[in-house]
Parts: sequence; structure tokens; C-alpha cells
Amino acid sequence: MKIPFNRPCLEGSELEYLKKVIETKSIGGGGTFTAQAETWLKKRLGVQRALLTTSCTAALEMAVMLADIRPGDEVIMPSFTISSMANAVVLRGGVPVFIDIRPDTLGLDERRIENALSSRSRAIMPMHYAGIACEMSDIQDIAARHDLIIIEDAAHAFLSSYKNTPCGRLGDISTFSFHETKNIVSGEGGALLINREDMVERAEVLLNLGTNRSRFKRGEVGRYEWLDIGSSYLPSELTAACLFAQLEQADHITSSRRQIWRHYHDALAAYEIEGLLSRPTAPADRVHNGHIYYMLFPDKETRERVAGALLSAGIDARTHYVPLHDTPAGRRYCRTADTMAITTSVAERLLRLPVWVGLEPKLDWIIDTVGSILAQTR
Ligand SMILES: Cc1ncc(COP(=O)(O)O)c(C=O)c1O
Repeated sequence: MKIPFNRPCLEGSELEYLKKVIETKSIGGGGTFTAQAETWLKKRLGVQRALLTTSCTAALEMAVMLADIRPGDEVIMPSFTISSMANAVVLRGGVPVFIDIRPDTLGLDERRIENALSSRSRAIMPMHYAGIACEMSDIQDIAARHDLIIIEDAAHAFLSSYKNTPCGRLGDISTFSFHETKNIVSGEGGALLINREDMVERAEVLLNLGTNRSRFKRGEVGRYEWLDIGSSYLPSELTAACLFAQLEQADHITSSRRQIWRHYHDALAAYEIEGLLSRPTAPADRVHNGHIYYMLFPDKETRERVAGALLSAGIDARTHYVPLHDTPAGRRYCRTADTMAITTSVAERLLRLPVWVGLEPKLDWIIDTVGSILAQTR
């Protein structure tokens, strides 16, 4: 039996909507499905504006432009994350400043932010690892005290929330990923969420090659012209059609994933009591979306042994990020303002189990397999 790490749930109207787009022969971006998906996101999250993008990476690049990050400006972020966050800053000439993550949620450690600030600090980029939100009240307080913009990377956190506020509405600017590895997918794809009225118009310009094409399409100006920097970040209608079908199933997909997460969590409790592994921490004031279920082993050797044995049994369990501060580009372009002890340790000890809709009948077998591998450690 082979169990993949991930399998997108494409069981709604994806094919029907894709067919519709192809029949219209109008497959460029900005059509009906784009509008429907953007409206869905705006209403559900309560944001000022939602814009579909070609990826979360693209949305992060736009967010850093919107935050007006200039050469030498510093942006606080975790190192236990994807290169897209740091790249977005470096592409504008800015300097990513890495601080450690919390040992419980594995999100940016808000208690370490103020120590890392300098006169060049302009923004904070929290990332909600595994869909479990960072301590956003404290991050918002720090940002307000020091006049910093919050760029929320909610790539993992679609339909997660913090103190009843949805992720995607917790920063000045926020981003989602709809990459095929995420809960809700359009192959490649993402969204930029704007929570500040004063940034909406510029966001539309950045998305459209630096032009006011959005205003032209709404009939607000007679022709469109180049106004600002920008690029081509608008996805095609094919992507938007697939995404809209996914959004219609988003609650079903999320609740199935949360049940799988809960099943693992309950079953692995006994091993945590024995000290063989630690389980994720999901604080009571936030709802997660079942994006990732991970185990933390006591050391790297145990993690490698369990990962190898699971793979031999046909279960594709995965490690995660190589910390950015410890990579060639991280050393070249960034500043590390902390010991990074938790980041380094977590990166060596973490292993993610498969989570996908349809996995339910295999869960007990996966858990038994983990149990028998761990039994050899006792
Ligand atoms: C935290 C985080 N941010 C951003 C991204 C980039 O997403 P995309 O593939 O949509 O560009 C990823 C990708 O997995 C991610 O894990």
C-alpha cells in the first residue's frame, strides 16, 4: 500500500467550470470566475479587497511593493519558512531580519521582535505555520508602537482564525497560497488581501503591469496607462474557475482535514506521554484548518529513522523547511538577529504525516505503523 503525502480534493464543479471557461473562448484573467472568487474571499474574510494572483509568491512580492520597502529597509520574519518571503524583500533591495520561532506554535516569536528592531525596520512578516496563527495581538501592538506594517503570510492558514478573526485579515496586507499542496488548490495560485482602504488602488495597479487597467475596465478612465512599478500577477480564468469550485467546497475540505488532524492528535497522545514525540500545540483562542499534522522527535536521528521506516512501509511522511538563515542566499542577503536555537532544532526534528481528504480509512494503519516503529525505540 502506498500513501502519498498529499492528494488535492477536486470533487466539486472544477471540470464543469473549466469547460465553461473554454466554451466562452475567453481564458485571459479578470473574467467572471475571477470576480466571483474575489467576492467570495472579500465577503468571507471581511477584507477591503481580495485580488487573485498567480501564486502566494507573487502576492508576497506585491505586498512588499505596497509596503514601500526600499533599499536597506529591514523586515522581521521567521527563518523557518519558504524562500518566497525573504525573496520578496530582497528583490526590492530590503534586508530580511530573521528571528526565532516559538517552541509551541512554531510561529514567529513575538517576544523576540523588539530586540531585533533597528532604525531601518519597516515591517513584520508573521507566517502561521501549519495553519496555527501566530500571537497576533502582541504583534499588532508592537507594529503600532514602532510604526511597522504587518505583512501576514497566511499561505498555510486559509480558513484558520485567531480570536475569532480570520487569518488573511490580521495584517495590513495578507497573502494566501492555492498551490496544489495547500488545502484549497488551483494548481498554482494565490491571493492578496488588502485590509487598508488607502492601499487598494495601488494594489490594483501593481497587479496590472503598473497600469490603471482595472479602472479602465470599470469604465472609470477612457484609456489606461503606465503609472507605477508592477508586473503581471493576474491568473487566467482557468485558474480562477478551478479556484472558485474549490472555494465552494472549502468548508467541507477544511472540516475533513481537521477531523484527520484530530484523529492523529488523539491517537498519538500516548506516545507524547511516554516522551517518544511531541505533538502540535493549538492554543484555545485560535482555530486551525488542519493544514499540517507534524510530530517532533527528541532528536534528528530518531526523525530520520522514523521517516525512513515510514517510507519503507509506503507512507510518504515529509520533513519541512531548511531554515533560511542557514542557506547560501540567507547568509548573503539577510541579517540573523537571534540565536535561532528553536528554529534549528525544530527543522531537524519535525516530520509531517499525510493529510488529505479520503485518507480516513488508512489513518489507523498509519498510526499503528508509527506505533510499531516507535516501539523499537523504547
Ligand atoms: C509559508 C509559505 N508562504 C508562501 C509560499 C509560496 O506559495 P506559492 O507556491 O503559492 O507561491 C509557500 C509555499 O509552500 C509557503 O509555505
